[in-house]
Amino acid sequence: MTSPKPRVVLGVSAGIAAYKVCELLRRLTESGHDVTVVPTEDALRFVGEPTWAALSGKPVSTGVWDGVADVPHVRLGQQADLVFVAPATADLLARAAGGLADDLLTNTLLTARCPVVFAPAMHTEMWEHPATRANAATLRSRGAVVVEPASGRLTGKDTGPGRLPEPAELFEVARHVLARGADGRDLAGRHVVVSAGGTREALDPVRFLGNRSSGLQGYALARTAVARGARVTLVSANVALPDPAGAEIVPVESAEDMREAVLKAAGAADAVVMAAAVADFRPAGYQGSKIKKSEGSEPEPIRLAKNPDILAELGERRRPGQVIVGFAAETDDVLENGRAKLARKRCDLLVVNQVGEGLTFGRPDNAAVILGADGSQTEVPRGAKEALAEVVWDQVAARLVPPPAG
Ligand code: C5P
Repeated sequence: MTSPKPRVVLGVSAGIAAYKVCELLRRLTESGHDVTVVPTEDALRFVGEPTWAALSGKPVSTGVWDGVADVPHVRLGQQADLVFVAPATADLLARAAGGLADDLLTNTLLTARCPVVFAPAMHTEMWEHPATRANAATLRSRGAVVVEPASGRLTGKDTGPGRLPEPAELFEVARHVLARGADGRDLAGRHVVVSAGGTREALDPVRFLGNRSSGLQGYALARTAVARGARVTLVSANVALPDPAGAEIVPVESAEDMREAVLKAAGAADAVVMAAAVADFRPAGYQGSKIKKSEGSEPEPIRLAKNPDILAELGERRRPGQVIVGFAAETDDVLENGRAKLARKRCDLLVVNQVGEGLTFGRPDNAAVILGADGSQTEVPRGAKEALAEVVWDQVAARLVPPPAG
């Protein structure tokens, strides 16, 4: 017997980014989801009803007066496995936060008991307005995932936060939230910092010492944390991957840059996960102009200086209740070296994986042992880096102190 297709209600409100949501719809239907599109009346000014109907293979209506015999204003929400609103305008967020039910989409939001995701898109001023901030906070406090908009070019010539994240990344949010089900938002109200990628240590304006880290594991951690409801700051060093929807990306290059960005973001964070490969050494002297090769003489050796150990500094500076997670790539005596590192760096958890040729770097999968400062040891068999990310967050969530009641 084939399992029924997950039912998704795709709400669309009246933002120009509605055109990007056609691509999200296509990804959802092609990956086996049963999607009903519920636009607001004004959303149809941007993308018309025939487009939504053709792409979803279902009739589309905006109001509560079509097909009343089926009571669609209640049924759609009750039967959905996920309600995903993209783009969510300032007006839609306000109506949802206020509990209004003046069209089919807001009725559906009131009757849904499944996970609900809003992907806001609007001009920066509207997103930053205290009314919109308050509405987003209200919706989050009720368990919805409100995906932070991306920063970049908006409709006109202006740029700033307010862009709808790319459809492929919104699809990832939908996939993760659906997979975790109704109680999956255990990081709601939490701020987490993730570092990803590999630092580059400049020798001269064109050359650097670097490493093979792709950033895949850190990006998987950021994606899964967004889907679990967290506010995510992703400090990203030299990664050629699409920005995960909803994460605030802080691009950095060197270990020094990363230290500054991580310590700044970590100040008030609930958890910090250092998945980045940070260079232990940098060239001792930076040459302001390109090092020339001179005929007939040997090149100068490169002298190295030690970089700061960010993880150890986080361990020293931690706030009470803050959870610190390190990663360790080991080639031999994996567990023994891991335990020693966990103690030395004073982290709560250390994710130890074996590296070597063909293992881990740049691959979509990973295998690891997660060591806890409390003596725990959790084996994570080889699988997708996202699966490892979920186990890391399970372990972090179990160590977070409960938020104050109220
Ligand atoms: O000592 P080792 O490099 O094996 O430790 C790895 C862990 O420490 C990773 O979590 C990495 O992000 C972090 N690290 C750091 N600063 C350094 C070197 C590593 O935060 N300079």
